[in-house]
Amino acid sequence: MLPARVRIVEVGPRDGLQNETAVVPLEAKVGLIDRLSATGLAVIEAGAFVSPKWVPQMADSAGVMARIARAPGISYPVLVPNETGLDAALAAGATEIAVFGAASESFSRRNINCSIAESLARFAPVVARARAEGLKVRGYVSCVLGCPYEGEVPPEKVAEVSGSLSDLGCYEISLGDTIGVGTPGKAVAMIEAVAARVPRESLAVHFHDTYGMAVANIHAALERGVAVVDSAVAGLGGCPYAKGATGNVATEDVVYLLDGLGIASGVAMDRLLDATRFISGVLGRPPVSRVARALLARAPGETGGDSNA
Ligand code: HMG
Ligand code: MG
Repeated sequence: MLPARVRIVEVGPRDGLQNETAVVPLEAKVGLIDRLSATGLAVIEAGAFVSPKWVPQMADSAGVMARIARAPGISYPVLVPNETGLDAALAAGATEIAVFGAASESFSRRNINCSIAESLARFAPVVARARAEGLKVRGYVSCVLGCPYEGEVPPEKVAEVSGSLSDLGCYEISLGDTIGVGTPGKAVAMIEAVAARVPRESLAVHFHDTYGMAVANIHAALERGVAVVDSAVAGLGGCPYAKGATGNVATEDVVYLLDGLGIASGVAMDRLLDATRFISGVLGRPPVSRVARALLARAPGETGGDSNA
């Protein structure tokens, strides 16, 4: 059965912009997040307190956090890999952080320079201190449907890492198909393996759309009772440590899907398209989202004859 309501976690300002080769100016990041805050989204990932040597695109996250107009009722999580990152997140007034592990040893090493076991040991004091400070902590697991270095990833490994993050105190586990290779059957098998270890109400899906399967995968996940979906406006994104991986599924595509299924998300498509137009202008290229392209190409007042306009 499909959920009546889905929470969308907008990751474009972080997962999307971390992968731009050109530096996106601070004002543009703030402009994007402020526009996203007007759409009805309840969660907007605003940046990452990671090493600027590893991901220079996120080096101005403190400035972003200081400048955005934080709207009541919206959470603006930031990525934190270690205690240094937590210190920075606390100084920036973050109220939610996300730690990020992987289900593949090679990806863990390339992304955060340590093994899976070392990463969990590193996250433990971070999560404990963040929670003691009153912060919410989300946990990511990368490479849940395949690894750029190791290929197939067993669902049992995804379940094990997800369970460990949940045990540490993460309120939600976001299952990342980092390189976008998943298909619905594999996604369902992976979700069922994880759901045997972590309550499915605590699961989110995070699909990159490299092979164009993300919407199909999301539909399959919804049918399995997952009601939290990560996405990026305009389909921005990728991962600097997963070459060839394209952007996250576009938020426009997810909203169109949910609207069509009669599932509430609270996100207004017209407001979302303002953010799409803005960031596409900044980056100087059209959105990869097919939905955004179709809707932006319409003449004003034209509805296209469907109920999703
Ligand atoms: P390391 O080099 O092993 O760290 O990197 P270190 O502890 O040895 O420190 C090295 C230097 O970095 C030191 O500076 C530290 O102070 C500094 P130096 O003394 O050389 O001048 N440093 C920091 N600076 C700022 N903030 C920090 C921080 N930590 C150390 N937090 C580390 C280990 C984890 C830091 C590094 O590998 C790193 O930052 N990795 C982040 C990679 C990243 O952000 N990847 C993208 C996000 S994950 C993703 O996109 C996947 C996801 O979307 C889900 C999916 O799609 O699957 C979430
Ligand atoms: Mg990602």
